[in-house]
Amino acid sequence: MNKVDVLLGLQWGDEGKGKIVDVVTPDYDIIARFQGGPNAGHTLIFDDKKYVLHTIPSGIFRDKTINVIGNGVVIDPIIIKDEIDKLEAIGIDVTSKLLISKKAHLIVPTHKILDKYSEEQKGINKIGSTLKGIGPTYMDKTGRNGLRMGDSLSPNFKEKYSALQEKHKTILGDYDYAELLAELEAKWFEAMEFMSKFTLIDSEHYINNAMNDGKSVLAEGAQGTMLDVDFGTYPFVTSSNTITAGTCTGLGVAPNRIGEVIGIFKAYCTRVGSGPFPSELDNEVGENIRKIGHEYGATTGRDRRCGWIDLPALKYAIMVNGATQLSMMKADVLDSFEEIQVCTHYDIDGEKLDYFPYDINSLNVKPVYESVKGWNKDLTGMRDMKDAPQEFLDYITYLERELQTPITIVSVGPDREQTIIRK
Ligand code: GDP
Ligand code: IMO
Ligand code: MG
Repeated sequence: MNKVDVLLGLQWGDEGKGKIVDVVTPDYDIIARFQGGPNAGHTLIFDDKKYVLHTIPSGIFRDKTINVIGNGVVIDPIIIKDEIDKLEAIGIDVTSKLLISKKAHLIVPTHKILDKYSEEQKGINKIGSTLKGIGPTYMDKTGRNGLRMGDSLSPNFKEKYSALQEKHKTILGDYDYAELLAELEAKWFEAMEFMSKFTLIDSEHYINNAMNDGKSVLAEGAQGTMLDVDFGTYPFVTSSNTITAGTCTGLGVAPNRIGEVIGIFKAYCTRVGSGPFPSELDNEVGENIRKIGHEYGATTGRDRRCGWIDLPALKYAIMVNGATQLSMMKADVLDSFEEIQVCTHYDIDGEKLDYFPYDINSLNVKPVYESVKGWNKDLTGMRDMKDAPQEFLDYITYLERELQTPITIVSVGPDREQTIIRK
């Protein structure tokens, strides 16, 4: 019985999901996104060119792969059209390789305006949202007011759109948005028209039939476990379930049909936006990691906050996802470090804690570190683990022992080629 493998982030997003999905795509017939939306920015680099995808699964560059946007995803037609235009401009036939669930919810212009409004209202307590309308769209989904991709086939589509917009206008009151709305709305309807050439499917049937026909499927996560709406650092999270369980609800796959779960993490840690980050380095070392690792947001261009690897958070993420294997990314960024710090637990007013406390936002959480010897060698040209410096092998062994999960993929640079499979 074929199962769906899952690849997802174990930290606060931007772990390198796009890169690894692209690397493993030749092993799969179908790549499917199951949650999130254009808040994601997944970077792929090959043949000296860089591509950033927001809504489209990272299997789109390979000829034989079908890419599915599942019901759990939220779609902004303006952004997806822009992604498709860019892909078509370089000769990729997106129309025949992209299938979209009728049940995926639509981000309408007023969702984006509401996102901005909500952040302004929160002031210094803002989430640091990407302002793509994610929160308001998922709120309308669970509030049972949402507009779905499949509604575009209905003769009442415009009426449904207007009814939703009226609700939003009531919330927005006299907030100044008329000009922005007019500009976005014109583009939005134009993009919806463009999207009508794409095949809309019942993705739950499509995926299950494909599995029954012996096809292989990989689900591509967006964001990361610590941004999960239930298990992340609430309220500084996104509005979807980013964990393995999100695959079940976001694609219509039963839990007993989940296969391998590949959890991705960086050899250090980053976060973009507000919220707790116990092992953050708000100093020269963090600045150094940011510069070497080019840690700037792929969607918003914001500086990513940088820090050391956090084992309690990783153990938690492995637990809630049932990760069966791990992919360690960006090890090369630590090439020049004599010593690497690993956060093994937290100290809260003298008490030792090895898990994320409920009220982490209000507690004084101090990370406790163990120092590990750096490898101090350039890893970017390495293509085989037999060429790895001993200190690097020791770091991997140390992490595997602590995390009790095998590291099967090691990434030593942003390019497709800079990847070592350790199976
Ligand atoms: P995603 O959102 O998880 O797909 O990750 P992003 O694309 O937002 O961020 C990962 C960044 O790291 C991108 O700029 C990648 O090109 C880059 N990257 C991925 N893997 C590696 C690696 O092993 N080494 C280095 N130096 N960069 C990497
Ligand atoms: P990928 O898939 C990193 C963060 C935002 C903000 C919070 C809520 O590229 O890993 P939202 O726009 O969802 O309301 O923002 O979540 N965030 C991400 N951080 N990578 C992402 O996606 C993110 N998507 C959202 O910065 O703190
Ligand atoms: Mg990203």
